Amino acid sequence: MVSYIRRDYLATPMFGKPIKMVLLGGGELGKEIAIESQRLGVEVIVVDRYDWAPAMHVAHRRYVIDMLNPVAVKSVVEKENPDVIVPEIEAISYEALEDLESKGFLVIPNAKAVRIAMNRIELRKFAAETLGVPTTRYSFAENPDEAVDACDKVGYPCLIKPEMSSSGHGHVKVVEPNPNIVKKAYEYAVSHARGRSRRVIVEEFIQLETEFTVLTYRYVGDSAVVTEVCEPVEHWRYGKYHYIESWQPSKKSREILGKAKEIGIKVANGLGGLGIFGVEVFLGKDGRILFSEVAPRPHDTGMVTMASQELSEFAIHVRAVLGLPVPKPRILTPAASIAIYTDKENIWAPRIIGVYEALKIEGVDIRVFGKPFTYRDRRMAVVLARGRDIDEALEKARKAASYIVVE
Ligand SMILES: Nc1ncnc2c1ncn2[C@@H]1O[C@H](COP(=O)(O)OP(=O)(O)O)[C@@H](O)[C@H]1O
Ligand SMILES: [Mg+2]
Repeated sequence: MVSYIRRDYLATPMFGKPIKMVLLGGGELGKEIAIESQRLGVEVIVVDRYDWAPAMHVAHRRYVIDMLNPVAVKSVVEKENPDVIVPEIEAISYEALEDLESKGFLVIPNAKAVRIAMNRIELRKFAAETLGVPTTRYSFAENPDEAVDACDKVGYPCLIKPEMSSSGHGHVKVVEPNPNIVKKAYEYAVSHARGRSRRVIVEEFIQLETEFTVLTYRYVGDSAVVTEVCEPVEHWRYGKYHYIESWQPSKKSREILGKAKEIGIKVANGLGGLGIFGVEVFLGKDGRILFSEVAPRPHDTGMVTMASQELSEFAIHVRAVLGLPVPKPRILTPAASIAIYTDKENIWAPRIIGVYEALKIEGVDIRVFGKPFTYRDRRMAVVLARGRDIDEALEKARKAASYIVVE
Protein backbone atom coordinates (compact mmCIF):
# COMPACT_ATOMS: atom_id res chain seq x y z
CA MET A 1 0.00 0.00 0.00
CA VAL A 2 1.24 3.44 -0.91
CA SER A 3 0.69 5.84 1.97
CA TYR A 4 -0.16 9.45 1.27
CA ILE A 5 1.83 12.26 2.79
CA ARG A 6 0.62 15.64 3.90
CA ARG A 7 3.38 17.76 2.41
CA ASP A 8 4.67 20.67 4.41
CA TYR A 9 7.65 21.61 2.25
CA LEU A 10 8.54 22.31 -1.36
CA ALA A 11 12.10 21.94 -2.64
CA THR A 12 14.71 23.00 -5.19
CA PRO A 13 14.68 21.28 -8.58
CA MET A 14 17.92 19.76 -9.89
CA PHE A 15 19.83 20.10 -6.60
CA GLY A 16 19.74 18.56 -3.16
CA LYS A 17 16.61 16.46 -2.72
CA PRO A 18 14.16 17.71 -5.33
CA ILE A 19 10.50 16.71 -5.48
CA LYS A 20 10.28 14.85 -8.78
CA MET A 21 7.30 14.25 -11.02
CA VAL A 22 7.30 11.90 -14.00
CA LEU A 23 4.56 12.84 -16.43
CA LEU A 24 3.58 9.93 -18.66
CA GLY A 25 2.24 11.78 -21.68
CA GLY A 26 3.24 15.31 -22.58
CA GLY A 27 0.32 16.77 -24.51
CA GLU A 28 -1.34 20.14 -23.93
CA LEU A 29 -2.84 19.00 -20.64
CA GLY A 30 0.54 17.71 -19.51
CA LYS A 31 2.12 21.02 -20.49
CA GLU A 32 -0.15 22.89 -18.09
CA ILE A 33 0.49 20.28 -15.38
CA ALA A 34 4.23 20.79 -15.95
CA ILE A 35 3.91 24.60 -15.75
CA GLU A 36 1.95 24.41 -12.50
CA SER A 37 4.55 21.99 -11.13
CA GLN A 38 7.40 24.27 -12.16
CA ARG A 39 5.72 27.09 -10.28
CA LEU A 40 6.00 25.02 -7.12
CA GLY A 41 9.65 24.14 -7.70
CA VAL A 42 9.01 20.56 -8.74
CA GLU A 43 11.52 18.77 -10.99
CA VAL A 44 9.54 17.73 -14.05
CA ILE A 45 10.37 14.79 -16.30
CA VAL A 46 8.17 14.27 -19.36
CA VAL A 47 7.79 11.03 -21.28
CA ASP A 48 6.01 10.68 -24.61
CA ARG A 49 6.19 8.73 -27.83
CA TYR A 50 7.47 11.64 -29.93
CA ASP A 51 10.03 14.32 -29.29
CA TRP A 52 9.17 17.89 -28.28
CA ALA A 53 5.64 17.05 -27.26
CA PRO A 54 4.08 20.17 -25.64
CA ALA A 55 5.04 19.42 -22.02
CA MET A 56 8.65 18.67 -22.99
CA HIS A 57 9.13 22.39 -23.69
CA VAL A 58 8.66 23.13 -20.01
CA ALA A 59 10.36 20.09 -18.48
CA HIS A 60 13.76 19.55 -16.90
CA ARG A 61 14.25 16.31 -18.80
CA ARG A 62 12.43 14.36 -21.46
CA TYR A 63 12.31 10.81 -22.77
CA VAL A 64 10.90 9.48 -26.01
CA ILE A 65 9.75 5.86 -25.60
CA ASP A 66 7.03 3.42 -26.61
CA MET A 67 4.58 4.13 -23.77
CA LEU A 68 2.81 0.80 -24.26
CA ASN A 69 6.03 -1.10 -23.63
CA PRO A 70 6.14 -1.94 -19.90
CA VAL A 71 9.91 -2.41 -19.89
CA ALA A 72 10.43 1.04 -21.41
CA VAL A 73 8.06 2.76 -18.97
CA LYS A 74 9.55 1.01 -15.96
CA SER A 75 13.14 1.71 -16.96
CA VAL A 76 12.50 5.46 -17.17
CA VAL A 77 10.65 5.55 -13.87
CA GLU A 78 13.23 3.43 -12.05
CA LYS A 79 16.04 5.57 -13.39
CA GLU A 80 14.35 8.81 -12.31
CA ASN A 81 12.91 7.48 -9.04
CA PRO A 82 10.17 10.15 -8.86
CA ASP A 83 8.00 11.10 -5.90
CA VAL A 84 4.94 10.92 -8.11
CA ILE A 85 3.97 9.40 -11.47
CA VAL A 86 1.26 11.33 -13.30
CA PRO A 87 -0.32 9.60 -16.32
CA GLU A 88 -1.57 12.14 -18.84
CA ILE A 89 -2.85 9.84 -21.58
CA GLU A 90 -4.63 6.50 -21.75
CA ALA A 91 -2.19 4.73 -24.05
CA ILE A 92 0.23 3.67 -21.31
CA SER A 93 1.18 0.16 -20.28
CA TYR A 94 -0.93 -0.40 -17.17
CA GLU A 95 1.09 -3.50 -16.30
CA ALA A 96 3.99 -1.11 -15.79
CA LEU A 97 1.87 1.14 -13.56
CA GLU A 98 0.63 -1.78 -11.47
CA ASP A 99 4.14 -3.11 -11.07
CA LEU A 100 5.54 0.31 -10.14
CA GLU A 101 2.76 0.85 -7.64
CA SER A 102 3.47 -2.51 -6.02
CA LYS A 103 7.08 -1.38 -5.63
CA GLY A 104 5.91 1.66 -3.66
CA PHE A 105 5.75 4.35 -6.36
CA LEU A 106 2.83 6.77 -6.12
CA VAL A 107 0.77 6.42 -9.32
CA ILE A 108 -1.98 9.02 -9.87
CA PRO A 109 -4.79 8.49 -9.09
CA ASN A 110 -3.84 4.80 -8.63
CA ALA A 111 -2.97 2.01 -11.05
CA LYS A 112 -6.32 0.24 -10.79
CA ALA A 113 -8.27 3.42 -11.52
CA VAL A 114 -6.13 4.03 -14.59
CA ARG A 115 -6.82 0.49 -15.79
CA ILE A 116 -10.58 0.74 -15.24
CA ALA A 117 -10.95 4.20 -16.76
CA MET A 118 -9.07 3.36 -19.97
CA ASN A 119 -11.41 0.48 -20.74
CA ARG A 120 -15.02 1.31 -21.62
CA ILE A 121 -16.30 -2.14 -20.71
CA GLU A 122 -14.54 -2.29 -17.34
CA LEU A 123 -15.57 1.27 -16.60
CA ARG A 124 -19.21 0.72 -17.48
CA LYS A 125 -19.42 -2.40 -15.32
CA PHE A 126 -17.73 -0.58 -12.46
CA ALA A 127 -19.93 2.52 -12.67
CA ALA A 128 -23.29 0.92 -13.39
CA GLU A 129 -22.95 -2.40 -11.58
CA THR A 130 -20.52 -1.73 -8.71
CA LEU A 131 -21.24 1.92 -7.92
CA GLY A 132 -24.83 1.96 -9.16
CA VAL A 133 -24.62 5.32 -10.95
CA PRO A 134 -27.16 5.90 -13.73
CA THR A 135 -25.86 5.37 -17.29
CA THR A 136 -27.27 4.89 -20.77
CA ARG A 137 -28.56 1.38 -21.56
CA TYR A 138 -25.66 -0.74 -22.75
CA SER A 139 -24.51 -4.16 -23.85
CA PHE A 140 -21.18 -5.71 -24.82
CA ALA A 141 -20.12 -7.76 -27.86
CA GLU A 142 -16.98 -9.41 -29.19
CA ASN A 143 -17.97 -10.55 -32.66
CA PRO A 144 -20.31 -9.37 -35.42
CA ASP A 145 -23.21 -11.66 -34.43
CA GLU A 146 -23.02 -10.60 -30.81
CA ALA A 147 -22.96 -6.99 -31.99
CA VAL A 148 -26.29 -7.53 -33.78
CA ASP A 149 -27.79 -9.00 -30.60
CA ALA A 150 -26.33 -6.21 -28.48
CA CYS A 151 -27.80 -3.51 -30.74
CA ASP A 152 -31.20 -5.22 -30.74
CA LYS A 153 -31.09 -5.41 -26.97
CA VAL A 154 -30.10 -1.76 -26.49
CA GLY A 155 -32.44 -0.45 -29.21
CA TYR A 156 -31.97 2.08 -32.00
CA PRO A 157 -30.35 4.50 -32.51
CA CYS A 158 -27.31 3.16 -30.71
CA LEU A 159 -23.62 3.84 -30.62
CA ILE A 160 -20.91 1.19 -31.02
CA LYS A 161 -17.59 2.06 -29.38
CA PRO A 162 -14.40 0.01 -29.18
CA GLU A 163 -13.43 -1.14 -25.71
CA MET A 164 -10.34 1.06 -25.86
CA SER A 165 -9.97 4.29 -27.85
CA SER A 166 -10.07 8.00 -27.24
CA SER A 167 -11.29 11.22 -28.91
CA GLY A 168 -14.24 9.42 -30.44
CA HIS A 169 -12.09 7.06 -32.54
CA GLY A 170 -14.10 4.12 -33.79
CA HIS A 171 -17.49 5.42 -32.62
CA VAL A 172 -20.26 4.43 -35.01
CA LYS A 173 -23.89 5.40 -34.73
CA VAL A 174 -26.35 2.79 -35.94
CA VAL A 175 -29.83 4.08 -36.69
CA GLU A 176 -31.73 1.02 -37.89
CA PRO A 177 -31.96 -2.70 -37.12
CA ASN A 178 -30.13 -3.95 -40.19
CA PRO A 179 -27.72 -6.84 -39.41
CA ASN A 180 -25.41 -6.02 -42.33
CA ILE A 181 -25.06 -2.42 -41.29
CA VAL A 182 -24.46 -3.43 -37.68
CA LYS A 183 -21.76 -5.91 -38.70
CA LYS A 184 -19.99 -3.29 -40.81
CA ALA A 185 -20.23 -0.79 -37.98
CA TYR A 186 -18.77 -3.37 -35.60
CA GLU A 187 -15.82 -4.01 -37.94
CA TYR A 188 -15.22 -0.28 -38.28
CA ALA A 189 -15.25 0.16 -34.50
CA VAL A 190 -12.75 -2.64 -33.78
CA SER A 191 -10.48 -1.57 -36.61
CA HIS A 192 -10.16 1.86 -34.92
CA ALA A 193 -9.49 0.46 -31.45
CA ARG A 194 -6.29 0.94 -29.52
CA GLY A 195 -4.74 -2.52 -29.23
CA ARG A 196 -6.04 -5.75 -30.66
CA SER A 197 -9.24 -6.20 -28.65
CA ARG A 198 -12.35 -7.21 -30.62
CA ARG A 199 -14.68 -6.20 -27.80
CA VAL A 200 -17.09 -3.28 -28.07
CA ILE A 201 -19.70 -1.57 -25.96
CA VAL A 202 -23.04 -0.77 -27.54
CA GLU A 203 -24.76 2.20 -25.91
CA GLU A 204 -28.19 3.63 -26.32
CA PHE A 205 -27.71 6.86 -28.32
CA ILE A 206 -29.37 9.57 -26.31
CA GLN A 207 -30.64 12.93 -27.48
CA LEU A 208 -28.40 15.29 -25.56
CA GLU A 209 -29.69 18.48 -23.99
CA THR A 210 -26.14 19.27 -22.94
CA GLU A 211 -22.95 17.76 -21.51
CA PHE A 212 -20.99 18.43 -18.33
CA THR A 213 -17.52 17.70 -17.16
CA VAL A 214 -17.63 17.46 -13.40
CA LEU A 215 -14.10 18.14 -12.18
CA THR A 216 -13.90 16.24 -8.93
CA TYR A 217 -10.72 15.96 -6.93
CA ARG A 218 -9.25 14.08 -3.98
CA TYR A 219 -6.49 15.53 -1.83
CA VAL A 220 -4.80 14.74 1.46
CA GLY A 221 -6.70 16.49 4.22
CA ASP A 222 -5.71 16.86 7.85
CA SER A 223 -6.76 13.38 8.83
CA ALA A 224 -8.16 11.71 5.70
CA VAL A 225 -8.47 12.12 1.95
CA VAL A 226 -10.97 14.87 1.14
CA THR A 227 -13.16 14.82 -1.99
CA GLU A 228 -14.25 18.15 -3.43
CA VAL A 229 -16.06 19.08 -6.60
CA CYS A 230 -15.80 22.13 -8.87
CA GLU A 231 -18.81 23.81 -10.44
CA PRO A 232 -19.60 21.72 -13.53
CA VAL A 233 -18.06 22.78 -16.84
CA GLU A 234 -20.62 22.63 -19.64
CA HIS A 235 -19.65 21.80 -23.20
CA TRP A 236 -21.18 21.30 -26.60
CA ARG A 237 -19.85 19.23 -29.50
CA TYR A 238 -22.25 20.06 -32.33
CA GLY A 239 -22.85 16.37 -33.03
CA LYS A 240 -19.13 15.60 -33.26
CA TYR A 241 -17.37 13.32 -30.82
CA HIS A 242 -14.56 15.69 -29.81
CA TYR A 243 -14.30 18.80 -27.64
CA ILE A 244 -15.15 22.05 -29.41
CA GLU A 245 -16.47 24.58 -26.88
CA SER A 246 -16.75 24.63 -23.11
CA TRP A 247 -17.81 27.18 -20.53
CA GLN A 248 -18.18 27.65 -16.81
CA PRO A 249 -20.34 28.21 -14.82
CA SER A 250 -23.30 26.38 -16.34
CA LYS A 251 -26.69 28.08 -16.44
CA LYS A 252 -28.55 24.83 -15.80
CA SER A 253 -30.59 24.56 -12.62
CA ARG A 254 -29.07 23.99 -9.22
CA GLU A 255 -30.91 20.68 -9.03
CA ILE A 256 -29.42 19.39 -12.28
CA LEU A 257 -25.93 20.56 -11.37
CA GLY A 258 -26.29 19.02 -7.92
CA LYS A 259 -27.11 15.64 -9.44
CA ALA A 260 -24.16 15.91 -11.82
CA LYS A 261 -21.87 16.72 -8.90
CA GLU A 262 -23.19 13.73 -6.95
CA ILE A 263 -22.20 11.49 -9.86
CA GLY A 264 -18.76 13.11 -9.95
CA ILE A 265 -18.18 12.48 -6.27
CA LYS A 266 -19.41 8.88 -6.41
CA VAL A 267 -17.18 8.02 -9.34
CA ALA A 268 -14.07 9.75 -7.97
CA ASN A 269 -14.50 8.11 -4.59
CA GLY A 270 -15.16 4.76 -6.23
CA LEU A 271 -11.90 4.95 -8.16
CA GLY A 272 -10.01 6.41 -5.20
CA GLY A 273 -6.47 7.76 -5.06
CA LEU A 274 -5.37 11.39 -5.41
CA GLY A 275 -5.80 14.08 -8.04
CA ILE A 276 -8.51 15.45 -10.28
CA PHE A 277 -11.05 13.44 -12.31
CA GLY A 278 -12.94 14.76 -15.33
CA VAL A 279 -16.26 12.98 -14.86
CA GLU A 280 -18.35 13.22 -18.02
CA VAL A 281 -22.08 13.52 -17.43
CA PHE A 282 -24.90 13.72 -19.97
CA LEU A 283 -28.12 15.65 -19.57
CA GLY A 284 -30.64 14.05 -21.91
CA LYS A 285 -33.52 15.90 -23.54
CA ASP A 286 -35.71 13.55 -21.53
CA GLY A 287 -34.21 14.98 -18.31
CA ARG A 288 -32.05 11.99 -17.43
CA ILE A 289 -28.68 12.79 -15.86
CA LEU A 290 -26.28 10.00 -16.72
CA PHE A 291 -22.66 9.12 -16.12
CA SER A 292 -20.81 8.62 -19.40
CA GLU A 293 -17.11 8.14 -18.72
CA VAL A 294 -14.25 9.52 -16.64
CA ALA A 295 -10.72 10.70 -17.29
CA PRO A 296 -8.65 10.22 -14.11
CA ARG A 297 -6.76 13.42 -14.87
CA PRO A 298 -7.46 17.00 -16.01
CA HIS A 299 -9.94 17.11 -18.89
CA ASP A 300 -9.65 18.94 -22.21
CA THR A 301 -12.99 20.71 -21.71
CA GLY A 302 -11.65 21.82 -18.30
CA MET A 303 -9.07 24.09 -19.95
CA VAL A 304 -11.66 26.83 -19.45
CA THR A 305 -10.78 26.78 -15.74
CA MET A 306 -7.50 28.51 -16.67
CA ALA A 307 -9.68 31.58 -17.25
CA SER A 308 -12.58 31.04 -14.86
CA GLN A 309 -11.34 29.57 -11.59
CA GLU A 310 -9.07 30.72 -8.78
CA LEU A 311 -7.12 27.50 -9.27
CA SER A 312 -7.22 25.85 -12.69
CA GLU A 313 -7.85 22.12 -13.01
CA PHE A 314 -4.08 21.79 -13.52
CA ALA A 315 -3.18 23.69 -10.37
CA ILE A 316 -5.68 21.58 -8.46
CA HIS A 317 -4.22 18.35 -9.84
CA VAL A 318 -0.65 19.33 -9.01
CA ARG A 319 -1.48 20.42 -5.49
CA ALA A 320 -3.51 17.27 -4.86
CA VAL A 321 -0.89 14.85 -6.17
CA LEU A 322 1.85 16.54 -4.16
CA GLY A 323 -0.07 16.16 -0.89
CA LEU A 324 -0.94 19.84 -0.60
CA PRO A 325 -4.34 21.19 0.51
CA VAL A 326 -6.83 22.27 -2.16
CA PRO A 327 -9.67 24.32 -0.74
CA LYS A 328 -12.47 24.57 -3.28
CA PRO A 329 -11.54 27.28 -5.83
CA ARG A 330 -14.05 30.05 -6.46
CA ILE A 331 -15.19 30.98 -9.94
CA LEU A 332 -13.76 34.46 -10.53
CA THR A 333 -15.54 35.21 -13.78
CA PRO A 334 -17.69 33.49 -16.38
CA ALA A 335 -15.42 32.16 -19.12
CA ALA A 336 -15.44 30.08 -22.28
CA SER A 337 -12.93 28.08 -24.28
CA ILE A 338 -12.72 27.01 -27.91
CA ALA A 339 -10.32 24.43 -29.25
CA ILE A 340 -8.38 25.30 -32.41
CA TYR A 341 -7.97 22.33 -34.74
CA THR A 342 -6.07 22.04 -37.97
CA ASP A 343 -7.26 20.25 -41.08
CA LYS A 344 -3.77 20.20 -42.57
CA GLU A 345 -1.77 17.04 -42.89
CA ASN A 346 1.87 17.01 -41.81
CA ILE A 347 2.94 20.63 -41.70
CA TRP A 348 6.26 20.94 -39.90
CA ALA A 349 6.55 23.87 -37.43
CA PRO A 350 3.11 25.32 -38.20
CA ARG A 351 2.23 28.93 -37.46
CA ILE A 352 -0.89 30.06 -35.66
CA ILE A 353 -2.09 33.01 -37.74
CA GLY A 354 -4.66 35.70 -36.95
CA VAL A 355 -3.67 36.20 -33.33
CA TYR A 356 -3.36 39.99 -33.60
CA GLU A 357 -7.05 40.41 -34.37
CA ALA A 358 -8.00 37.70 -31.88
CA LEU A 359 -6.06 39.17 -28.98
CA LYS A 360 -7.40 42.66 -29.65
CA ILE A 361 -10.66 41.47 -28.11
CA GLU A 362 -10.67 42.39 -24.45
CA GLY A 363 -10.68 39.39 -22.12
CA VAL A 364 -9.35 36.97 -24.78
CA ASP A 365 -6.27 34.85 -24.31
CA ILE A 366 -4.69 31.97 -26.24
CA ARG A 367 -2.61 28.92 -25.34
CA VAL A 368 -0.45 27.63 -28.19
CA PHE A 369 0.48 24.02 -27.52
CA GLY A 370 3.71 24.02 -29.55
CA LYS A 371 3.13 20.67 -31.30
CA PRO A 372 5.97 20.36 -33.80
CA PHE A 373 3.83 19.10 -36.68
CA THR A 374 0.20 18.83 -37.71
CA TYR A 375 -2.07 16.06 -38.81
CA ARG A 376 -5.68 16.33 -39.84
CA ASP A 377 -7.98 17.20 -36.91
CA ARG A 378 -5.09 17.72 -34.52
CA ARG A 379 -5.74 20.21 -31.75
CA MET A 380 -3.08 22.94 -31.82
CA ALA A 381 -4.25 25.70 -29.47
CA VAL A 382 -7.11 26.85 -27.31
CA VAL A 383 -8.77 30.24 -27.08
CA LEU A 384 -9.93 31.40 -23.66
CA ALA A 385 -12.31 34.30 -23.10
CA ARG A 386 -13.71 36.01 -20.05
CA GLY A 387 -16.99 37.88 -20.12
CA ARG A 388 -19.64 39.50 -17.94
CA ASP A 389 -21.70 36.40 -18.52
CA ILE A 390 -21.40 33.13 -20.42
CA ASP A 391 -23.02 34.49 -23.57
CA GLU A 392 -20.51 37.31 -23.79
CA ALA A 393 -17.58 35.01 -23.01
CA LEU A 394 -18.68 32.53 -25.68
CA GLU A 395 -19.25 35.27 -28.21
CA LYS A 396 -15.75 36.65 -27.65
CA ALA A 397 -14.19 33.20 -27.82
CA ARG A 398 -16.00 32.39 -31.06
CA LYS A 399 -15.05 35.70 -32.61
CA ALA A 400 -11.40 35.28 -31.62
CA ALA A 401 -11.32 31.67 -32.85
CA SER A 402 -12.82 32.73 -36.20
CA TYR A 403 -9.68 34.79 -36.95
CA ILE A 404 -7.29 31.96 -36.30
CA VAL A 405 -5.88 29.54 -38.84
CA VAL A 406 -3.04 27.06 -38.61
CA GLU A 407 -0.65 27.03 -41.59
N1 LIG B 1 -24.54 7.09 -25.69
C1 LIG B 1 -24.35 8.29 -26.27
N2 LIG B 1 -25.40 8.99 -26.74
C2 LIG B 1 -25.23 10.20 -27.34
N3 LIG B 1 -24.03 10.78 -27.52
C3 LIG B 1 -22.94 10.13 -27.06
C4 LIG B 1 -23.04 8.86 -26.41
N4 LIG B 1 -21.82 8.45 -26.08
C5 LIG B 1 -20.98 9.42 -26.49
N5 LIG B 1 -21.64 10.43 -27.08
C6 LIG B 1 -21.03 11.66 -27.63
O1 LIG B 1 -19.70 11.37 -28.05
C7 LIG B 1 -18.76 12.08 -27.26
C8 LIG B 1 -17.52 11.23 -27.04
O2 LIG B 1 -17.88 10.01 -26.42
P1 LIG B 1 -17.01 9.39 -25.23
O3 LIG B 1 -17.62 8.12 -24.82
O4 LIG B 1 -16.82 10.43 -24.19
O5 LIG B 1 -15.65 9.06 -25.97
P2 LIG B 1 -14.19 9.65 -25.84
O6 LIG B 1 -13.47 8.69 -24.96
O7 LIG B 1 -13.70 9.63 -27.20
O8 LIG B 1 -14.29 11.02 -25.22
C9 LIG B 1 -19.51 12.45 -26.00
O9 LIG B 1 -18.94 13.57 -25.36
C10 LIG B 1 -20.91 12.72 -26.56
O10 LIG B 1 -20.96 13.98 -27.18
MG1 LIG C 1 -15.23 11.51 -23.46
